[in-house]
Amino acid sequence: FELERDAASVEKGDYPYFMLKEIAEQPQAVADTLAGSLVDGRVSLPGLGLSEQCIRELTSVVVIACGSSYHAGLIAQQAIERWTDLPVHVEVASEFRYREPKLRSTTLVVAVSQSGESMDTLMALRHAQQAGATVVSICNTRGSSMARESHGVLYTEAGTEIGVAATKTFLTQVAAGYLLALHLAGVRGGQTTDGLIEVAEALADIPRAARQLLATVPQLRALAASLADRDAVLFLGRQLGYPVAMEGALKLKELAYLHAEAFAAGELKHGPIALIEDGLPVVVVMPSASQQPLLHEKMMSNIQEVRARGAVTVVIAEQGDESVDACADAVVRMPTTHFMLAPLLASIPLQILTCELALARGCDVDQPRNLAKSVTVE
Ligand code: G6P
Repeated sequence: FELERDAASVEKGDYPYFMLKEIAEQPQAVADTLAGSLVDGRVSLPGLGLSEQCIRELTSVVVIACGSSYHAGLIAQQAIERWTDLPVHVEVASEFRYREPKLRSTTLVVAVSQSGESMDTLMALRHAQQAGATVVSICNTRGSSMARESHGVLYTEAGTEIGVAATKTFLTQVAAGYLLALHLAGVRGGQTTDGLIEVAEALADIPRAARQLLATVPQLRALAASLADRDAVLFLGRQLGYPVAMEGALKLKELAYLHAEAFAAGELKHGPIALIEDGLPVVVVMPSASQQPLLHEKMMSNIQEVRARGAVTVVIAEQGDESVDACADAVVRMPTTHFMLAPLLASIPLQILTCELALARGCDVDQPRNLAKSVTVE
């Protein structure tokens, strides 16, 4: 009922579609999610309801989620594993309780869900509760089933999202995942070469950088027009860019009804490269040239491999990375940030590209066929 009331009161304003409006709201939504939890480089999350002792005693983390929320969970996994000594396992919620996941009271189970009502995630959460795990949720909906049934909640402050496919709720989940990772690291004592205060400061600066990316709309609209007649699009990423690529592919399936597939770029040579043919668009999420030179070099080879076989390459790269220019058919620039936080920026042009491609193909970006905002059946 709360959602219906909110939905009725949300207007499109100057935007022709909710999706475009919600993409544009992301810098503020991320700022609102960080506000209060991140002050002067320190993270505190009282709503999680986890004592410092409980956090120190944790032995592992399990993330359960579906759809876009699952991709946010994959990003959180990398942050938690990099900044703490905890092993993290991420699983699609619909598979979780059908095997025998090993859970104990020192396992932190994190359910990630915009609605807090996805039945797959809710049933997985209940399974974890019954097994005695410590369960928290990252959730956008106050009072939802998952929020009520968790030990604690980290709320994303995206506000009501009308577009069926997640945009601002996804990006705020990613931001919340970083807050959780920094919080766990802060309590357990950092085990990482990254300066965590520096990361936290870079996180606080993301809304400003994200705002700059909204200016890519005209470039991506023109690109979308040139790609609208293709039957398939591939996405390549490495490390943190891989879940970003997966989210890009999911958005394109959901909204443009295109066959879209994401691969970890290193896996290309083990099979998917057979798919590359003349004119196939391949979207590449580039690692940071300045901070991840080795990964960057490997990705450059991957771009050359697909381009040599006729792919049309669209490369998302940080400002100043001119090395990509020679092997890209189109380059979308994003501001430089700490490489661990790049998903918060790289995801935005992929959302815009999807939205523009879907519109160019005559699709309804707010109400895609066959999909529901909240899936309350298993
Ligand atoms: C549906 C939506 C997706 C969403 C998924 C998970 O399938 O169409 O956009 O990512 O549910 O929803 P949740 O509310 O659990 O985040």
